[in-house]
Amino acid sequence: MKNKMELYETLNRINNKGYKAYKDIEGVYDFGQFTLFIDHVQSDPFAPPSRVRVRVSMKESGFEGKLFSTKERKIAFEDYISRKIYGEILKLPKLKGTGNSGVIFIDCGGQEILERTSVKIDNDFVEARISIGLPAFGRKINSKSAERIFFEFLPILVKRALTYENYDKKEAEKWVKLYEDQEYIRKILLDIGLIAFIKDGSILPRESGISDKPLKKGKVIPFISPESLRVEIELPNNGKITGMGIKKGVTLIVGGGYHGKTTLLKALERGVYNHIPGDGREFVITVKDAVKIRAEDGRRVEKVDISPFIANLPDGQDTKRFSTENASGSTSQAANIMEAVEIGTSLLLLDEDTCATNFMIRDARMQKLVAKEKEPITPFIDRVRQIYEEMGISTILVMGGSGDYFDVADCVIKMQDYRPYDVTEEARKIAFQLKTDRRVERAEGPITVTPRVIMKEGLELRGKEKIKSRDVDTLQYGGEFIELDYVEQLVDRSQTSAVGEIIRYAVKKYVDGKRTLKEIVEMVFEDIEKYGLDIISPFYGKHPGN
Ligand SMILES: Nc1ncnc2c1ncn2[C@@H]1O[C@H](COP(=O)(O)OP(=O)(O)OP(=O)(O)O)[C@@H](O)[C@H]1O
Ligand SMILES: [Mg+2]
Repeated sequence: MKNKMELYETLNRINNKGYKAYKDIEGVYDFGQFTLFIDHVQSDPFAPPSRVRVRVSMKESGFEGKLFSTKERKIAFEDYISRKIYGEILKLPKLKGTGNSGVIFIDCGGQEILERTSVKIDNDFVEARISIGLPAFGRKINSKSAERIFFEFLPILVKRALTYENYDKKEAEKWVKLYEDQEYIRKILLDIGLIAFIKDGSILPRESGISDKPLKKGKVIPFISPESLRVEIELPNNGKITGMGIKKGVTLIVGGGYHGKTTLLKALERGVYNHIPGDGREFVITVKDAVKIRAEDGRRVEKVDISPFIANLPDGQDTKRFSTENASGSTSQAANIMEAVEIGTSLLLLDEDTCATNFMIRDARMQKLVAKEKEPITPFIDRVRQIYEEMGISTILVMGGSGDYFDVADCVIKMQDYRPYDVTEEARKIAFQLKTDRRVERAEGPITVTPRVIMKEGLELRGKEKIKSRDVDTLQYGGEFIELDYVEQLVDRSQTSAVGEIIRYAVKKYVDGKRTLKEIVEMVFEDIEKYGLDIISPFYGKHPGN
């Protein structure tokens, strides 16, 4: 380890030189209260900012062990610290210069608390992984500004955001305890026969289509469970709470247009994550493997067995190994379902707004007009019960447009004026009195899932090593751009880049042309569990912090 004065001297020496000379500052420096790791220096002022780590010993930082004593608490507290650092970075003066000069960045979350690599805490130290745009004028090094960052700004960040003394201790503890309670609910859900829970008083609607913050303007109706569906849960930290429990099985959400159906389903989709205090969805909790299913016409499909839903295509295509560069509405939705089943989901979430109609329903009149032999699709309505009864996979479906689903639902929830009502009995009566003449169309026999084996060739990077998320929706994987717009449960750009890193990691370690996709995914997740999330980074234990 070098003394910090050496950094000072190097900066002095390279001042005004060509940008490449910045490479000389790479190394580890002793700053007294903290250790500075300059891991990677960017190649020019426009390149992605340089990677540094700031490490503070637990003795210096003074954080209480109880805030990170379990895996869950650790995730929550690391999240809290990264937000705190982010907040303090915003208060620093802005430095001028070319390109990314003076940019200081730490990855932190939005409304969700996700496991990240931006802050690492254990019994010995806390470490923040930060990106810094090393300052330049043109392509000439500006050491004066670099000095300010290292010798003035970083000590400020350490003091304000990595020293417990300057923390709101109550808030930090609340953060951690809330997360612990959220995880607790998600863990016990299935054991108490539920797939989702929504606490009384939750605020589900969001500010706008592009903002994930809670709706505040106008009249916001808090969620209140119907009496018949209300359950009580005793939390480890926050006492008893009550709310609506959605049981395993097939649940229908009905109701008039604009009455809040999609808003409810969207909250459930996001319920696979834990939300921050004040979000309104703190206690909207869904089983962790819930998958939102939608039609996604235009998507690529690679050898998915969609035969439970689609058979006898007009061009004679094999639907047991269905591949296409351009799926249709129904085939894309079938592929999305079968992929979710293949990987082991226990809950499918569907919204009529984003489903292919002919995939969902086929009424009596249409059955008369178009012969079964000329209709490749077995609609979802004829499989949804089988999926639950034989495979144990529940479904929550928003369906305001067809009462045919009354026949297959275990529970029907009606949204009216943004309030839920249990109308299961009423729907049953109606289904009994008003018989539909539709015939069940499914072929006999179990639904089979054919596990796919992943081949290495298609995933190798061949010299184009770049893996990067452009935003949440686009992943650059070597020379390919993967569009993820319709993977609606991705919420964070860093998740998208992690997906890319996971593919790279899996290809290097586990893809062998024999293992199945599911096996490989499980092996990667076991490694993450064992070695921590940054095991998927090519720079394990260092960076990136996102
Ligand atoms: N509890 C609530 N309080 C206030 N506004 C709400 C609430 N729930 C939903 N909204 C708002 O009502 C509007 C319609 O909601 P949503 O899209 O969920 O309706 P929908 O029933 O799915 O309609 P459609 O049948 O047309 O698809 C949205 O702008 C949403 O933000
Ligand atoms: Mg809707």
